[in-house]
Amino acid sequence: MKILIVGGGGREHALAWKLGRDDPQSEIFAAPGNPGMASIAHCVPIGPGRLEELAAFAETERIDLTVVGPEGPLEAGIVNLFQSRGLPIFGPTREAARIETSKRFAKELMTHAGVPTARATYHTEQTEARRLLADFGAPVVVKASGLAAGKGVVVAQSIAEAEDAIDAMLGDRVFGEGGGEILIEEFMEGEELSLFVITDGERAIPLLAAQDHKRLLDGDFGPNTGGMGAYAPTSIATPELVRQVMREIIEPTLGAMRDEGYPFTGLLYAGLMVTPDGPKVVEYNCRFGDPETEALMPLMDSSLLELIASVAGGGSLARSRPPDWKRLAAVTTVVAADGYPEKPRSGDVIRLPEAPDDVHVFHAGTGLSSSGELVTAGGRVLAITAVAGGLLEAAEQSREYAEEVSFKGKQLRGDIGWRELTRGARIT
Ligand code: AMP
Ligand code: GLY
Repeated sequence: MKILIVGGGGREHALAWKLGRDDPQSEIFAAPGNPGMASIAHCVPIGPGRLEELAAFAETERIDLTVVGPEGPLEAGIVNLFQSRGLPIFGPTREAARIETSKRFAKELMTHAGVPTARATYHTEQTEARRLLADFGAPVVVKASGLAAGKGVVVAQSIAEAEDAIDAMLGDRVFGEGGGEILIEEFMEGEELSLFVITDGERAIPLLAAQDHKRLLDGDFGPNTGGMGAYAPTSIATPELVRQVMREIIEPTLGAMRDEGYPFTGLLYAGLMVTPDGPKVVEYNCRFGDPETEALMPLMDSSLLELIASVAGGGSLARSRPPDWKRLAAVTTVVAADGYPEKPRSGDVIRLPEAPDDVHVFHAGTGLSSSGELVTAGGRVLAITAVAGGLLEAAEQSREYAEEVSFKGKQLRGDIGWRELTRGARIT
């Protein structure tokens, strides 16, 4: 089987690794891939935004299955294009991807379908937005409606801070047109959980729930990032909670998408807040999460490829079983570049120590210098996943390796999994 993976980050590296294990006979291509993926995939120099070239490549190479990592190409309609040419691809159409690419679309869909989520109002006008803040009180959340590379969200602790966020987004357009419309949202108290489901539009199969760490610094301080680490499993995701999420959140959402005429197929990522009133949706994403995918893939025992291939071929999951998972714990520590998330610096030479057996080094933002040295080439540089019998051990191994990686200005969190570890739960 010939598989094309679109993207070149840690998520795509982890997907390539897993799909390659699921079918050792497969031939994997990555566009554009990265130096870490080069040992398991042919990297082709086509960026994820060049849809026509990707489709032409898939046709020429007779690719059997294309898997899309980032949301950008999904928003641009890569699935529509591939489907129109009869090329099997895993992911939602442009219209279905709006569940991530338009927060307003997602909010209205959820409200309509009775899916629990934070109350929100929408604004394009600064004065009106500022006036409505009083109704919400503080803390309150201000979000850009369109894509803003994971940074368009301000959790404001005071009304003054929220006013500043409104002025920056609607007045100064710090997020460009993605911030031309904003949402003001009720603050939800609780613990966050990422639940991924693979769906054919009707039936949905959940993967293992994971927890991401969005803030830059230990203890969940500092600015929001794309994600500084993740772990799984987590004891708050009890089987009952997952069933409740499937029943009250995922199924009505998929039903509403079908009713809209845009069934969602591919991977639906529910970013949840487990509140005292039950699980509620913080946001939906229309693709695999990063870095949760790097934590989940080494734990998944059964075939991801089978599930993905059924959906991509326009088939059904009716006969598919939920995946089997290793009874182990995984912790992923992201090693980020100097200046991340504001202004990540590229070009710093990376030294990678040899990794022990149970440590996976997924490349995220790496490149090769003109002299062939491995250098930083993105905000999140590496995702280090350790797998062990217990969470504490996995966390220690992941951190130890991440600490040994060296490049100038390296940033990492040393406390991935802290919530679970301070709960004292033992996961074996
Ligand atoms: P988003 O990009 O929508 O996932 O938001 C980024 C982060 O902001 C989330 O992971 C949460 O930590 C936080 N956040 C977003 N919306 C809310 C909300 N309504 N209540 C509390 N925290 C939120
Ligand atoms: N883990 C956050 C994201 O993928 O958006």
